[in-house]
Parts: sequence; C-alpha cells; structure tokens
Amino acid sequence: MSRRLIYLDNNATTAMVPEAVREMVPFLSVYYGNPSSFYSLGQESKEALQSARRRVAGLLGCGEDALVFTSGGTESDNSALRSALRTSGKREVVTTAVEHPAVYRFCQELEREGYRIRWLPVGSDGRLDPADVARAIGSETAIVSVMWANNETGVLFPIREIGEICRAHGVLFHTDAVQATGKLPLHVAEMPIDFLSVSAHKFGGPKGVGVLYVREGVPFRPYLLGGSQERGRRAGTENVAAIVGMGRAAELAAERVGRFADRVGKLRDKFEKTILSELTEVRINGHRTERVPNTSNLCFQNVESEALLLELDRQGILASGGSACSTGSAKPSRVLVGMGLSAREAFASVRFSLGWNNTEEEIDWAAAAVVRAVRRIREKLPASLVAQ
Ligand SMILES: Cc1ncc(COP(=O)(O)O)c(C=O)c1O
Repeated sequence: MSRRLIYLDNNATTAMVPEAVREMVPFLSVYYGNPSSFYSLGQESKEALQSARRRVAGLLGCGEDALVFTSGGTESDNSALRSALRTSGKREVVTTAVEHPAVYRFCQELEREGYRIRWLPVGSDGRLDPADVARAIGSETAIVSVMWANNETGVLFPIREIGEICRAHGVLFHTDAVQATGKLPLHVAEMPIDFLSVSAHKFGGPKGVGVLYVREGVPFRPYLLGGSQERGRRAGTENVAAIVGMGRAAELAAERVGRFADRVGKLRDKFEKTILSELTEVRINGHRTERVPNTSNLCFQNVESEALLLELDRQGILASGGSACSTGSAKPSRVLVGMGLSAREAFASVRFSLGWNNTEEEIDWAAAAVVRAVRRIREKLPASLVAQ
C-alpha cells in the first residue's frame, strides 16, 4: 500500500463530508444575506437555516424548535449549565470527574464563583454508577451534567437511567452528546433529557458550529445577549454557511447511524483483536462493550505514548495520546487517572478513534504498524524496566 495518511483521530475531529462542503460554498459567496433581513437575499439564508434545523432534528430525533444553533460543543455545554443555575436560583451542580474540559473547567470556574460541584467518580472500567447520581442530588442541586460518551475512552454512561433519576428528583439534566452523535441513534425527544450538546465537526460537519437542544417547556436563559436570533435564545448573526454544512452532515449521519456500529465497530474490533493477540501487556482502557463503536484506548505497558505516536506519525498513522484539548500538557490524562490508572500507565496509553471512511485495508495496515512500533520501542528498553 502506498504511504498515505491513515486518520485514526476522529474523536478529535473528522474530515468534512464533501457533500457538506459543496452545500456550504454558495453561502460563502452568492447567498450572503443576513437571515434577519426581510428582503429575498436574507430570506434565502433564513430558509437555509430552517432546512439545516430540520436535518439536525432528524439526526437527533427531536423537534426543530428545541434546537439552538451555537458555536459548538463548548458553548452548548457552558450555556446549559449557566442557564440552569440562573433559572433555578440553586447553587449546586452534579457532574463527573471525567467530563470534557468544556464541562469540567466550567464547573471549576463555578466553584471559584462559590457554587458547589459534586464530582462523581467512575469505576476502573470508566463507568458511572447511577446510584451515585441519586445519592449526590440534594435540595440545592440545579442540574446534573453527565456526558453520553467519553471522548478519550468512548465509554457510555447510562443516560436514560440517569435522566429518570433526575426527573424523579425534579432536577434538570444535561448531557454532552458530542461524542455520541452520529455513532448511536439518540432518539432525544423520547429520552428524559432537558439539555443536550452537539458539535458538527465530530460527524463530518465544519468546526465552530453546533447545537444546544433545550427540551420544550424547560426554562432557559441565554448565555450570549444581543440580537433576537434563535428566538431570543442565542444572540449573534448566525454562521449560515457553517450551519448549512452541519445540516448536510447531519442528514448523511442520520442515513448512516444505523450502520455505524456494524461498519466501524467491526473494524475497531478487528484492530484490537490483532493488537491484543500479537502483543503482550496491552490493555483496553474502558469497558469492552459499553463503548461507542469507533474508539479504542489502549495501554501498552512500558511504552511511552509519545514515542509510539511519533513512530506512527512517521508512517502516516494519526492517533492521539489523550483528548486533543489536553495535548501539549505534560499531565497524565485526568480521565485515565480517574479510572485508577497510574500516571505511568496513562502516559503509556493511546487513543485510536476510527471514522466512517476508514477501510479494512487501512485498519490491517495500522494494526500491523502498531505491533511493529511497540515491539521496536520495547526492544530498546533497558532490561531492568521491562522486568518491572
Ligand atoms: C465530549 C466533548 N464535549 C465537548 C467538546 C467541545 O466541542 P467543540 O470543539 O465543538 O467546542 C468536545 C470536543 O473535543 C468533546 O469531545
């Protein structure tokens, strides 16, 4: 096989689907009207927004009116939490120790502002016990925020069960579904969810655009104030071209979501099977089955992930040592440490995240390259280290 890129970092971002790029282009040139303008050029942009809203609603399985366009997952997460605190007047948030920084760091900031955050731990398989959620909710809890799928391990949290617990206690429930969208059918309207965050660049859409789902009847206070866009729920002239791209990507993701596990999950499982059978001292980080089908987080004992990633990069294989947002920091992954891994084990872990376009040939090639690279790195280790 010729040396080309094998992209296995789809949890960081995905390549845009060409259909979405094609639909966006006219909205960067010909149809430049402001959707709030009454004349036809503006109305064309407005109709494009409506069509995109319909398509995203189709992917999520909810009504169009529940969707607020945002600048992506981070804004959606921040907005949901801030809104819940403002509308409820309560002082407490229940969340987990393994959330994406878009929730985690926002909650740390809330702590500095004097709010109380109850950080729930996860087990060694990365799972969350819903009973812990029930125990953590108190009379001052404004909202529970628990991610649907973890960005580093892919581990799924029992969203329906947690949502039902929140309903029973009369507290709002937010889920960050950024890593679940397009990988599993979500059926959001049928779920006990009040707020849900989505980001377009994780399912073939452009970066810098996403949605916040706000269940009908749930009180909402906007995060950004200004114009009356998004029916007063998010001020600022809409990023029309990006929203159009997200809409088209959502439509394609909706067509594919039923086949995602079968196609991508099979490749992920084959990838892991090869590596686990060829190498010793390799472990899957996270529950084996309660995971999104595309993610494989592997701990290679006595291998520094940085060395492995560099070696793979030289061969055109792109993966990640943790979540993209924490790359560059010298700290071990908070998520892996939260699951009980030592710093050394966390630094020996690599996340491979597959996408719809990966082929079997690519995956076979990548698995063989990982095996070769790990063997080579381990061969260079002093015997004293290997014996540990
Ligand atoms: C689980 C999760 N939440 C939120 C985000 C942030 O989304 P965005 O990049 O659109 O702000 C990401 C992106 O990595 C993510 O994986």
